[in-house]
Amino acid sequence: MDQMIERLFSPHAVTLTASPNMWDGPLYPEEEALTKPMAPNRKREFTAGRLCARQGLDRLGIQNFPVLVGKNREPLWPPGIIGSISHCRNFCGAVIARQGSILSVGLDVEPLEPMATDVLDLVCTPGEKKWLQTDNGPNSLFWPKLIFSAKESAFKCHFPLAKTFLDFKDVEVAINLEDGSFSVTLLVPPPEILSEVTALNGRFSTDDNHVYTGVEIASTECLLPE
Ligand SMILES: CC(C)(COP(=O)(O)OP(=O)(O)OC[C@H]1O[C@@H](n2cnc3c(N)ncnc32)[C@H](O)[C@@H]1OP(=O)(O)O)[C@@H](O)C(=O)NCCC(=O)NCCS
Repeated sequence: MDQMIERLFSPHAVTLTASPNMWDGPLYPEEEALTKPMAPNRKREFTAGRLCARQGLDRLGIQNFPVLVGKNREPLWPPGIIGSISHCRNFCGAVIARQGSILSVGLDVEPLEPMATDVLDLVCTPGEKKWLQTDNGPNSLFWPKLIFSAKESAFKCHFPLAKTFLDFKDVEVAINLEDGSFSVTLLVPPPEILSEVTALNGRFSTDDNHVYTGVEIASTECLLPE
């Protein structure tokens, strides 16, 4: 399954998928302390994400770094490191990289299943709904979930740089089914750091159970403070 997320990102990024034993720990004591209020299933997914993060950091030569949680639930990576975590039922994956040619990453995984109409109304813009009504092949029932996931991965990529939230209708997703790519256009004014960015670019993949999306912001797209 690692290949499903590996293909979403450029070769500078390290991708990880949790194996069954990684859902039970052990966590670092500082991470373990964060799990005290968590229900058992939430603790398992948090643990799998942290163990993926630890493996990824190890591959980048960084050991003994507990990945704590920011005020807005974002993972707090070591200086100069970017990353993203997603879990979904029995799947957990992460992407980690040194901040360099890539400035931010977002990963999301969702069950490959249809979406209820009332949820679709909350998630999709009129333009996306129009696209969903066209003939988009045998998997078209699942494309609302793809749009949802693209928005979630764009949010996770956007947040660490922008420090602002996005609503579902603040962005519009355009899917390219031919090459497995998508773009997420910001319909709201971007923060200054992203003023050169009009759309976030991503890739998607699917297997029998899940849709996987990944978004990257390249350093050439972003105005970093001097
Ligand atoms: C944060 C959010 C995107 C999580 O998505 P999800 O599908 O419920 O769950 P996932 O397993 O895919 O992702 C959860 C992980 O996202 C990461 N995450 C949470 N908040 C984050 C943030 N502000 N920035 C970056 N990553 C974040 C965390 O690593 C979290 O896992 P952890 O708590 O175990 O560390 C979602 O719950 C949320 O808050 N959405 C609101 C904003 C939004 O969705 N906008 C979309 C329109 S563009």
